Amino acid sequence: MPDYAIAPSILSADFARLGEEVDRVLEAGADIVHFDVMDNHYVPNLTIGPMVCAALRKYGVTAPIDVHLMVRPVDRLIGDFLEAGASYITFHPEASDHVDRSLQLIKSGGARAGLVFNPASSLDALKYVMDKVDMILLMSVNPGFGGQKFIPATLDKVREARALIDASGRDIRLEVDGGINTQNIREIAQAGADTFVAGSAIFNAPDYRAVIDQMRAELAQ
Ligand code: DX5
Ligand code: ZN
Repeated sequence: MPDYAIAPSILSADFARLGEEVDRVLEAGADIVHFDVMDNHYVPNLTIGPMVCAALRKYGVTAPIDVHLMVRPVDRLIGDFLEAGASYITFHPEASDHVDRSLQLIKSGGARAGLVFNPASSLDALKYVMDKVDMILLMSVNPGFGGQKFIPATLDKVREARALIDASGRDIRLEVDGGINTQNIREIAQAGADTFVAGSAIFNAPDYRAVIDQMRAELAQ
C-alpha cells in the first residue's frame, strides 16, 4: 500500500456495470475499492452486501476491498464479508453492542479491522482498543449518501486521530470519507490523513484517471 492511498467509493459507480467500473477505476490508478454497505436502519439508505463483494472477487478484482459497514447490528455481516473476500472491514462503534468482540471477529477472520467515527462522534471508543485497530475512518459527512459537502470540523479530528496513531506506534491507516475532491484533498492530507475516499468526485467525472492524477499531484505538493 502506498503512503497515500486513493479509495474510490463505488457507491457513485454505475451499479449496472459494476465490474467494469471497478476495472476502470483501478486502471485509472486507484489503490483501494471502498465498498459502502447501508442497511436502511443504521443509515437511511440501502446499498449492496456480501454477495456483491463476492461477485467482484469472482469477476477478478484482486485489489484491496475496504468494506465500510453502515449497519446495525454488525457481527453477522462481518462473517459474511470475511467469506466474501473483504480486505478491510470497518464499522461504527455505536452500531455494535460489543466493539472489542466485533474487532476480534474481523481480525480472527484474516481481515484488517477498523472503527468509523461520524462527524459529531468523539474518538473515545478508541481508547481501549488501539491495539486491535488497523484503520481509523473519519466521516467528513453524515453517513448515508454520496455527493455531500465536506464538513470542515473534521480537520481537527484528523489531527487528533493522527496524534493518537503516532503515540500508539502502530501501523494504522487514517482514512477520511465524504466530500473529498481535488480542491480539499491536500489540506486533509496536511492534517494527517493517508487514505482518501472519493465517490462523486471520481465517478461523476468523465475521465477517472484525470481526477486521480490531479489528486496525486495535490498530495505530492
Ligand atoms: C457516505 C459514504 C461515502 C460516500 C462518499 O455514507 O460512506 O463513502 O459514498 O461519497 P462522496 O465522495 O461523493 O462524498
Ligand atoms: Zn464510506
